[in-house]
Amino acid sequence: MSDTVKITIDGKEIEARLGQTILEAADDAGIYIPRLCSHPDLKPIGSCRVCTVMCDGRPQAACVKPVMEGMVIENETPQLLQHRRNIIDMMFVEGNHFCMFCEKSGNCELQALAYRFGISAPQYPFQFPEKEVDASHPDVMLDHNRCVMCARCVRASQELDGKNVFQSIGRGFERKIGVNGEKALGDTDMAVSDRAADICPVGCIIKKRVGFKVPVGERLYDKKPIGSDIEGVRS
Ligand code: SF4
Ligand code: FES
Repeated sequence: MSDTVKITIDGKEIEARLGQTILEAADDAGIYIPRLCSHPDLKPIGSCRVCTVMCDGRPQAACVKPVMEGMVIENETPQLLQHRRNIIDMMFVEGNHFCMFCEKSGNCELQALAYRFGISAPQYPFQFPEKEVDASHPDVMLDHNRCVMCARCVRASQELDGKNVFQSIGRGFERKIGVNGEKALGDTDMAVSDRAADICPVGCIIKKRVGFKVPVGERLYDKKPIGSDIEGVRS
């Protein structure tokens, strides 16, 4: 039995390996499917839904859906673009994201996605929730105002660092990233060299004393749009 299948994305037929997700197969083919909670070093959980595609006419999270022979996938349609815009919009208003003051500006995946989708201001009303800042750790800050609940830190701490520093706790609007059962970050075994300290897509987990080392204007997404590295391998 062949270990490859043929799938179609936006009318383009590509070959994919069995066991790959739609997202992985698209990446290999140089087709960018936007994503946020997904990270190549972590097990996918399909939580943010930014990567939603239409798969044989049904919405699916591309980061968790495995490829199958003959799948027909839509990625860049006006409806999907609007769906992704709405999700990004909601993330902005549910937290306190002030890009102009944020150390992560230019390296932030949420900001870069907003730029890619042409969002200059959210369409929903800002919630201005009250969130904490945990500065108790000597080397790492945790600013809940900027968290988008992607759980990358949770997975990185468990899967890559062999620790359990972060957990997703609470429900609904109260949901947040917890630290070893509501402890302060400074009371945990978190180390600045942990992968969890580097994997946050926004400015929620940031390292102390390295802020603005790279000037604004010279950061990753100041120079190239998010996804362009994947589209750059398109043949
Ligand atoms: Fe995601 Fe960062 Fe929040 Fe962790 S702290 S859930 S990595 S946004
Ligand atoms: Fe697929 Fe978040 S990237 S659900």
